[in-house]
Amino acid sequence: MTTDVLDLASLFHPGQHLLRELDFTGQHWRDLLDLAAGLKAAKAEHREIPFMRGLNIALLFAKTSTRTRCSFEIGAADQGAHTVYLDPQGSQMGHKESVADTARVLGGMFDGIEYRGDLQEHVDILAQQSGVPVFNGLTDDWHPTQMLADTLTMREHSDGRPDSDIAYAYIGDARFNMGRSLLVNGAILGMDVRIIAPKELWPAEDVIAAARARAAESGARITLTEDPGAVEGADFVHTDIWVSMGEPKEVWAERIELLHGYRVDEALMSLAGPNAKFMHCLPAFHDLNTAVGRQIHEQFGLDGIEVSNEVFEGPRSIVFDQAANRMPTIKAAMVSALGRA
Ligand code: CP
Ligand code: NVA
Repeated sequence: MTTDVLDLASLFHPGQHLLRELDFTGQHWRDLLDLAAGLKAAKAEHREIPFMRGLNIALLFAKTSTRTRCSFEIGAADQGAHTVYLDPQGSQMGHKESVADTARVLGGMFDGIEYRGDLQEHVDILAQQSGVPVFNGLTDDWHPTQMLADTLTMREHSDGRPDSDIAYAYIGDARFNMGRSLLVNGAILGMDVRIIAPKELWPAEDVIAAARARAAESGARITLTEDPGAVEGADFVHTDIWVSMGEPKEVWAERIELLHGYRVDEALMSLAGPNAKFMHCLPAFHDLNTAVGRQIHEQFGLDGIEVSNEVFEGPRSIVFDQAANRMPTIKAAMVSALGRA
């Protein structure tokens, strides 16, 4: 992997927002992944060059975070930039000030803005009104920075095979951010993508249509099915929590009813194949060491919800490599848009 300054700078796309995967060409998406790999190698070899010296990035979180927040803060610091973190209660936005007004205020002070919240519309308004690059740190619809980390991780665990030779399955609640993003990400990159969920929890029709259109261009193979057996032959099996941030706790019963046959356990991983790896964006409910995990155990008798503890802690699990890759990929998104070579 070359990390020469000029080589890395050739991958920059100045001023580009990161709002949703569908805004990107395959080449641009691959440039971000290659930039992330280059920045990761440069840091590991102690020869990282700060391309973002003196810049200021606002981190606006209307929902909580561990990985995404830390990745923006560390990525910016490594690159010579400063961050200001606004927590879910820590700004005027929403209750006293509109998103459009907040956008213009922050745009007058900062060089870039990260936003995490429920509505995609909010991240779009920030991009339209702030005048600076905006990075989507998760909405109910999309999780694009997670896609960069997931794909970098799959590449690293694929022995140099091209993206088009990689097959992955996503099993679980596919109507929310992770299911939608994993469908579109693989469609853009020409991968073999299997989305496995009860039909009620499939991505919206317009998202499936958009993914199929991108697959026709990229050569991606797209499967949507209710059959967990479709994991067979997948190199990677992804899942996500069954009830996402912002959803009421009352939906647990209905979700467990719908998804109990879609849990990732040793039997499902065996069906995928002997070399299949397990992935999860995290946080995960795999044991009784969380308040929600204990509550679901008491109420429904489940020990580990979307994934068994055996798989999560087992040798096929690459979830912590995946989590670590949030940082260089988020760094790449910022450097690509804002970096000065
Ligand atoms: N995967 C992910 O986005 O993690 P956080 O919620 O901790 O940022
Ligand atoms: N679907 C999850 C993803 C968390 C990273 C949520 O939105 O809570």
